[in-house]
Amino acid sequence: MSESTLGVYDIADLREQARQRLPRGVFEFFDRGNGDEVALANNRAAFERIKLNPHMLVDTSQRTQAITLFGKQQPMPLVVGPTGSAGLAWYEGEVALARAAKNAGIPYTLATGSMTALERVAAEAGGELWFQVYMWPDRAASHALIERAKAADYKALVVTVDTPVPPGREYNLRNGMTVPFRFTRRNVTDVLMHPRWLAGVLLRYLLTTGMPRYENYPTAMKTKITALPMGRSMMVSDSLTWDDLREIRKLWPRPLLVKGILRAEDAKLAADRGVDGVIVSNHGGRALDSTRAPIEILPEVVEAVGSRVTVIVDSGFRRGSDVIKGLALGADAVMIGRATLYGLAMAGEAGAARAIEIYRDEIDCNLAMIGCPEIGKLDPGYLAR
Ligand SMILES: Cc1cc2nc3c(=O)[nH]c(=O)nc-3n(C[C@H](O)[C@H](O)[C@H](O)COP(=O)(O)O)c2cc1C
Repeated sequence: MSESTLGVYDIADLREQARQRLPRGVFEFFDRGNGDEVALANNRAAFERIKLNPHMLVDTSQRTQAITLFGKQQPMPLVVGPTGSAGLAWYEGEVALARAAKNAGIPYTLATGSMTALERVAAEAGGELWFQVYMWPDRAASHALIERAKAADYKALVVTVDTPVPPGREYNLRNGMTVPFRFTRRNVTDVLMHPRWLAGVLLRYLLTTGMPRYENYPTAMKTKITALPMGRSMMVSDSLTWDDLREIRKLWPRPLLVKGILRAEDAKLAADRGVDGVIVSNHGGRALDSTRAPIEILPEVVEAVGSRVTVIVDSGFRRGSDVIKGLALGADAVMIGRATLYGLAMAGEAGAARAIEIYRDEIDCNLAMIGCPEIGKLDPGYLAR
């Protein structure tokens, strides 16, 4: 454990700090799900249904949680996932997240919808950077974006496929995070009641680059957050098919992953198109509601394609024991979304680093407790379902 815990001891503590610091509209945009939030709740409940089955008196004094992902060793089995608008949690939050990931030796995935341009994140943070792309209806514009990521030396491309249309997320409307942005008594009061955020985030943008906007978008599409609703600015396409993936494969020579897979047949279709990895994900319960939890679907995907491609899982991982369960069920790594955002909202890079450290300490503790000296040796035998 580092010298500074920042006074937070688990991811729930970080979430509470984020709740206090962010305007309610921004916090709910980060924290909540979609629809009736059935998927959001089930993502967590699913972990409670899977129990650990520990071995006693195993020498784990040399235990390691290092893994190899796409040929690279990394000290822990996490990937920081793409979270659009992370720059609203902290001034230039994407750079802070990337630095925290770099210092922990794990990949950071920059979202298409980030408030810092992909070239700047590469120049100012570096590290093992992945880029997440949403395919726009204008495929040529998306292909140009992919070329930019390639030129900026991003190491992997993540194509997200689980949001063909914008999710409803009514709370954004209630909070006045709407399109076009309307100054309502509610959202103005909300911001004024969070002066640290107003001064430390919003005013800093206004005094430097102006209203935060999606800096990776082509100039014609560059959209201020005053012009589109939160979470609807992705402009995703409902005409995307598996053929598009074939095209992207031709453009991208490095590891290519498809994010948002929720059934084994789709994982096979992806593998048949030559992808290197699939990410079993329901977008943290933010896209289609009422899906099964990715941790429940994971074993089917691993059985279908685990020997052919890398399998990553996300959605609802808040504890080291959750990560252990994911790897025991066959995932090669776990992606996290909100946890590092909470940390970012609390204390920028230091807060994101603290989130990662919490996972590291909890994974380490759990490995010892279940009697597993090497994280790569985890298998379903460590679980009782
Ligand atoms: C605020 C926020 C924004 C997100 N934006 C994106 C995005 O732009 N692209 C994407 O593929 N996933 C996005 N996600 C989903 C995450 O990549 C990830 O799948 C999800 O957060 C995992 O669940 P967890 O938050 O419970 O860890 C976003 C998630 C959050 C919380």
